[in-house]
Amino acid sequence: MIDYSGVSVDYGAVAALRQVSLSVPKGRTVCLIGPSGCGKSTLVRVALGLVPVTSGTVRVGGQDLKPTTIVAIRRRTGYVVQDGGLFPHLTARQNVLLMPDRLGFSALDRLGELAELVRLPLDALERYPAELSGGQRQRVALMRALVLDPDLLLLDEPLSALDPMVRSGLQDDLKEIFAKLGKTVVLVTHDMPEAAHFGELIVLMNEGRIVQSGALRDLLDNPADPFVKSFIEAQRRLTTL
Ligand SMILES: Nc1ncnc2c1ncn2[C@@H]1O[C@H](COP(=O)(O)OP(=O)(O)OP(=O)(O)O)[C@@H](O)[C@H]1O
Ligand SMILES: [Mg+2]
Repeated sequence: MIDYSGVSVDYGAVAALRQVSLSVPKGRTVCLIGPSGCGKSTLVRVALGLVPVTSGTVRVGGQDLKPTTIVAIRRRTGYVVQDGGLFPHLTARQNVLLMPDRLGFSALDRLGELAELVRLPLDALERYPAELSGGQRQRVALMRALVLDPDLLLLDEPLSALDPMVRSGLQDDLKEIFAKLGKTVVLVTHDMPEAAHFGELIVLMNEGRIVQSGALRDLLDNPADPFVKSFIEAQRRLTTL
């Protein structure tokens, strides 16, 4: 669904991505993980044409990402940012229906079905983002990402701002939703247990490069680099009570 080939991104003097090649298979969930600043968000944003590449190529759904294809690719892609990115002056319902309205589609009949899918109470749809809990805001953001029935979902730390109980509940709900809808999902996380929960494929990044990708077991049993071991050990220290 996404093919990154030798992608580098420089922000001025900062090399955010260095020669990254990665294939995201259709219908699978891939988790991007790595320390802060390693380039995870940049890699996601590249697939939407939000960040220009310095070198390399990106293909999404078999199309080269270029100025003439960006709009079509964005319409087939749902994107959720860390804080949900809802418009504060629109109700949840208006946030979800914004894009369909602009494109001239009626999505009203999808609202109930989507609310049920993400387990959002219907009355919450009439509230503004500030009147929702963090977990509800993320559910609305997910509805907005799903409303045009995209092939691809890009979720940049969708659960990081949530408390552990809400987070764990949403992890289960999201996994069920991904399986039910059969979407291709790229999910960014800081948290190895979360990556293990979702990711058939875990992609560990550091300093703009992919250090290792594989199943959790591969990373645990055959670390490709001392960084993989130290990253996993640091995560273990965080999660052992
Ligand atoms: N618009 C920008 N201008 C300049 N530098 C940027 C810009 N966006 C990101 N960077 C830099 O590029 C590098 C990669 O950033 P990116 O946001 O992709 O990291 P990340 O892995 O998503 O980090 P985090 O886990 O903290 O969200 C960082 O060094 C960051 O400071
Ligand atoms: Mg980020």
